Amino acid sequence: MLSLDNALNEEELADFDRRVRDLLAGEPYRYAAELKLDGLSMAAHYENGVFKQAVTRGDGTVGEDVTENARTIRTLPLKVADAPWPKFEVRGEVIMPKGAFEKLNAEREQQGLSLYANPRNSAAGSLRVLDPGITASRRLEYHAYFLLVDGRPVMESHWASLDALQRMGFKVEKRKLCPGLEEIQSFCREWAEKRDSLPYEIDGVVAKIDSVAQQERLGWRAKAPRWAIAFKFTARQAETLLEDIIVNVGRTGVLTPAAILKPVIVGGVTVTNATLHNEDYIRELDLKIGDTVTVERSGDVIPKVLGVARKGEHRRPFVMPSRCPVCDSPIMRAEGEAASRCLNTNCPARLKESLLHFAARSVIDIDGMGDALVNQLVDRGLVKNIADLYDLTFEQLVDLDRMGDKSARKILDNIDRSRQKPLDRVISGLGIPFVGERTAQFLAEGLGSMDELMHADEARLQLVEEVGPKVSESIRKFFAEPHNRELVERLRAAGLQFESGAPARAKAGPLLGLTFVLTGTLPSLSRDDAKAMIEAAGGKVTGSVSKKTNVVVAGDEAGSKLDKARELGIPVWDEKALRDKIGTAINE
Ligand code: IVH
Repeated sequence: MLSLDNALNEEELADFDRRVRDLLAGEPYRYAAELKLDGLSMAAHYENGVFKQAVTRGDGTVGEDVTENARTIRTLPLKVADAPWPKFEVRGEVIMPKGAFEKLNAEREQQGLSLYANPRNSAAGSLRVLDPGITASRRLEYHAYFLLVDGRPVMESHWASLDALQRMGFKVEKRKLCPGLEEIQSFCREWAEKRDSLPYEIDGVVAKIDSVAQQERLGWRAKAPRWAIAFKFTARQAETLLEDIIVNVGRTGVLTPAAILKPVIVGGVTVTNATLHNEDYIRELDLKIGDTVTVERSGDVIPKVLGVARKGEHRRPFVMPSRCPVCDSPIMRAEGEAASRCLNTNCPARLKESLLHFAARSVIDIDGMGDALVNQLVDRGLVKNIADLYDLTFEQLVDLDRMGDKSARKILDNIDRSRQKPLDRVISGLGIPFVGERTAQFLAEGLGSMDELMHADEARLQLVEEVGPKVSESIRKFFAEPHNRELVERLRAAGLQFESGAPARAKAGPLLGLTFVLTGTLPSLSRDDAKAMIEAAGGKVTGSVSKKTNVVVAGDEAGSKLDKARELGIPVWDEKALRDKIGTAINE
């Protein structure tokens, strides 16, 4: 799979046409012009009408086999009826529509993952992942432009190939039969203007000599055919002054730095700001306020700062604020994460999203509490804090748009019913970073109550299944934030479930299946703490020593229980032995 020569302007296009005309020595010819997609090329092989294998362009000679992932691309037919050839090959471009690209990057930003620079990179990344399930979720498209049998076009003209591909169910690009240079030029001009209206990125127009016989006569140069040219649209880049860097707080509390730019026209549109994603992005580009930067605008994608064009004379570094610019609560950036987050669940910037999360079916489950209602509740100032939901009155609700008596009563019932939802749902509803539904279940089971969760130190938290340093740090910081403690107290007052119905015992851990008895005074653990620690590590604590006891943990002034243990030959541990087994050191 080879490449194409480029024409960077209309003169170069005219030069190409002149060469063709000379080589064809006066023979009449015409062009098939198609949009040039900005993706990655892929060959798809079919046998007896069935898709068999897909290979990317790779270095042109050896590609990468992406068969299983390609199978998940919706616009790639897996079966082609009535194909007259036992074997054929289709070549085309894999692309990611702009909408899917933006959604994917927004999700990645939320998760603190690195961002794809453009839809082409994300299409390539998505096609080459190990898990076809991921490819499937990325909404890739395949647009075909060649139909080959034994490596050669089977139709007499390129136009006829595109028609055949279309009939076979392939998506083909917008195209035009052009009798000459002028028509190609106007097709190029038309799409240079309209490119933003397409749901995917194009970076030019490909003009191909339509007749395959003439293509063969024109032949190839080292890397590209003499019968085709890629007209490239002008890059939509410009240089401008980075006047400032501000920080926006997103719906989920992630802080996103944004570039404030001296207004500049890029591809016909005035650009005044651009996203900078996160602190690392700024550091990697070595951006400082006062620099002249290169800005790119590509399609609907938000303008992007590509890098520093010239360092400013009085350049000033950007510092991520340590407190939220909206609510002044502390900011957390977890280790290994690119994103900094506001920790206040009720931060006005986050409130709507926090409410939607809290009310979601899999969380506290308030049916009817969707976008429309949440928007009204927040915009009218009726809810400033998640806990305000429990103070809403019939009069307040019935006054809202599109709300009748019946639906207001229903919402109130649903809110009331949510008070019975188990502790893990309440924990997950708080919106603690990195504490999803599953972790919330482990925390509820392992700790038994909201109070334990609020007060447990990090070592204690880490005894809970699947809780590591990142989650335990996030929980501690969450509860260190006064707004969050206030939220918890108000939810308690509203009557939500703060105890887990089940005994606080983990289903796994180093002590799973072991029964303990505690006796005497341990050096640094109260009886309750020791019990909680054993239970969180999967063990069980009982009051008296019997044959069923596996271990007795003894401290100073241990009494008859220790004697009994010795009598029955039951192992006796001190506090250190217990901690060693569980894996926590003293004074943690
Ligand atoms: S024809 C001999 N048609 O552009 C290669 N290529 O810059 C002929 N591309 O590698 C390719 N849209 O990945 C052709 N309508 C189109 C295209 C197209 C995008 C890509 C293709 C090729 C690259 C060359």
